[in-house]
Amino acid sequence: MTETARHCGTWWSETDNEETVGSVGVDMGERRGTHVPVLLERCIELLAPALNRGDQTSRGDRTVHVDATLGLGGHAEAVLARFPDTVLIGLDRDPEALAHARARLAPYTDRVHLVHAVYDELPEVLDRLGYAHVDGVLFDLGVSSLQLDEPDRGFAYAQDAPLDMRMDQTRGVTAEEVVNSYSHADLARVLRVYGEEKFASRIAAAIIRERQKARLTSTARLAELVRESIPAPARRTGGHPAKRTFQALRIEVNRELAALEAALPAALDALAPGSRMVVLSYHSLEDRITKQALAARARSTGPVDLPVELPGTGPTLRLLSRGAELPGEAEVTANPRAASVRLRAAERIDPESVTGTERTRRTDRERSRRGGKALRTPSALRDASTVERKGLPQDGTGTEVEGEGT
Ligand SMILES: C[S@@+](CC[C@H](N)C(=O)[O-])C[C@H]1O[C@@H](n2cnc3c(N)ncnc32)[C@H](O)[C@@H]1O
Repeated sequence: MTETARHCGTWWSETDNEETVGSVGVDMGERRGTHVPVLLERCIELLAPALNRGDQTSRGDRTVHVDATLGLGGHAEAVLARFPDTVLIGLDRDPEALAHARARLAPYTDRVHLVHAVYDELPEVLDRLGYAHVDGVLFDLGVSSLQLDEPDRGFAYAQDAPLDMRMDQTRGVTAEEVVNSYSHADLARVLRVYGEEKFASRIAAAIIRERQKARLTSTARLAELVRESIPAPARRTGGHPAKRTFQALRIEVNRELAALEAALPAALDALAPGSRMVVLSYHSLEDRITKQALAARARSTGPVDLPVELPGTGPTLRLLSRGAELPGEAEVTANPRAASVRLRAAERIDPESVTGTERTRRTDRERSRRGGKALRTPSALRDASTVERKGLPQDGTGTEVEGEGT
């Protein structure tokens, strides 16, 4: 297994990284089995056609899969076990997660590269490892159970801890620095935009008042302040009152959305025709960015009214899920952390393969955007147990739907 770490723009060798990862002092392997990978079977099913075609790639019989959010290595382990001819490149910005994943993936050491990196650094990582293209990419966004469950990381509003919230504790600003230094306007913006918090301004004002008395340093005090700032009737609905504030601060501290906006196009660029990407999002902001990144490449850039595709204007992606797929009830019961997941997936296609073809589907979409209706085909209705259904019949028959799905 090769393992590399990036620190302040420098790549360390495997030997150096042994030290970097070891210094976090984790009991490697202790987390094995405590994290249930979300929508695992569906991810494997979607990636299989791309990862099972080793004989068609330029790398002999091996395919390459990028797990951009390695976490505890649950999805990665399943990919390595199910696809014996696949090489895995696993990225995570959290050295502690990398250490756990490294222990878990030890049986596959000859087919694994682990890299300490933010996922928008994927092009550099591939360049360094000598891969021009990859066959599969998985993004399982957000925080891992390791990060949530370890009180000293400061992600959880239910346990008292220092206000940290950095996924990579070796660099960057902490949540403590954010709440103690941002202006009222900036705090309110972060809470409103990243937390979709209705009471953003009141919470920001309470934070400012509190820090004028004493520096805010603990998750418990912040959670209490948020609860006190919200009108009593609102406290009784929508889960823990501090949930949205903690999500917002976590996104701000880790610059999560900017990294995702840069990473998705970069990952799509790395796909060869026939390669596939799957994205699991856990809140609407992530899902919106994903939806837009995929949709931008799944449509033609040619003039709307031409009946055929022109060279170079055809779509470069085929969406594998119409709208976002939701978890089934059984999955949510077995793994409550899957409750908010939204899955989107796409396959890279060669734009030249659609040159000169009829643009019936595009015309349908254009028509629907202008208020008309497009035909939803039976194939778009696969897996009635998980596909988000907007009043669609579950017998697989085509139906009339508005727009392009959510
Ligand atoms: C939900 S967990 C992934 C769990 C994993 N699929 C598994 O089965 O164990 C998300 C992981 O992505 C990492 N992560 C989040 N944002 C990242 C980013 N911008 N770059 C690299 N890693 C990131 C987190 O540190 C965390 O370990």
